[in-house]
Amino acid sequence: MDRIALVTGAGSGIGRAAAIRLSRAGLRVVLSSRRADALAATAAACPGPTLAVPADVTDPSAVDRLFGRAEHDWGAVGVLIASAGAGYSARIERTSDADWNRMLELNLTAPFRCLRRVVPAMRARGYGRVVVIASTASRVGEPYLAAYTASKHGGLVRAVAAELAGTGVTVNAVCPGFVDTPMTATTIGNIVQKTGRTAEQARSALEARQPIGRLITPEEVADAVWFCVASEAITGQAVNVDGGTVQS
Ligand SMILES: NC(=O)c1ccc[n+]([C@@H]2O[C@H](COP(=O)([O-])OP(=O)(O)OC[C@H]3O[C@@H](n4cnc5c(N)ncnc54)[C@H](OP(=O)(O)O)[C@@H]3O)[C@@H](O)[C@H]2O)c1
Repeated sequence: MDRIALVTGAGSGIGRAAAIRLSRAGLRVVLSSRRADALAATAAACPGPTLAVPADVTDPSAVDRLFGRAEHDWGAVGVLIASAGAGYSARIERTSDADWNRMLELNLTAPFRCLRRVVPAMRARGYGRVVVIASTASRVGEPYLAAYTASKHGGLVRAVAAELAGTGVTVNAVCPGFVDTPMTATTIGNIVQKTGRTAEQARSALEARQPIGRLITPEEVADAVWFCVASEAITGQAVNVDGGTVQS
């Protein structure tokens, strides 16, 4: 299968692991995020061909240029993994309009723009796989995470999956719990700053929130991404990879 995948957030954490997983499966992988040095490191870890294209997914014209470059150099993108994202934690009364808009722009509007750009070619070719890296915050409400939870509850995946059913294009969400990535390292740093606990105590507290008692590895999330990519029968789903935190 000569398929072209495009992974946003490929420079770090889950996006990096997903890119490596797809490369191992034989796909050519377009790697994107803002920092070129991080993309180069991911490219070095991929066994197959890669194309690194730095882009800020919150810039609409940059998203268009990203897909245009992939099409120009390699051809139509058949697999999109939208992993670029970030978290933000604050009490509701301390969440500014700017914080709110930043979360929606990065975690919801950017995947929307990527989907809108890639879907016409997928539909025309009768093949497409889209996986958005969502969160347990897509499934349940969590304290101090109003903006992040809203951005992850957007409904985009379910609506577009319903719209494209029967076209050969599937759209799914993978919903991780706490994963051992730089994003969780930032969360641990925030807990240390706000509570005075040590980093070890903060990490243990996050581990204890997951029934399996440990953080999820990025590779475990990447396996769930591949599970979605490999099947035409799975669409419109939210696949939890959270050690049993959300039972649905
Ligand atoms: N870690 C967790 O526990 C966890 C749990 C649930 C869901 N998630 C979700 O999983 C996804 C990936 O998280 P992660 O843990 O892998 O985080 P991470 O290690 O911080 O990686 C985030 C990636 O997104 C890129 N990125 C951030 N802002 C961007 C922008 N404006 N334009 C383009 N790329 C951008 C970053 O690269 P640059 O900074 O170079 O752009 C980086 O490659 C996120 O959507 C997150 O919400 C994570």
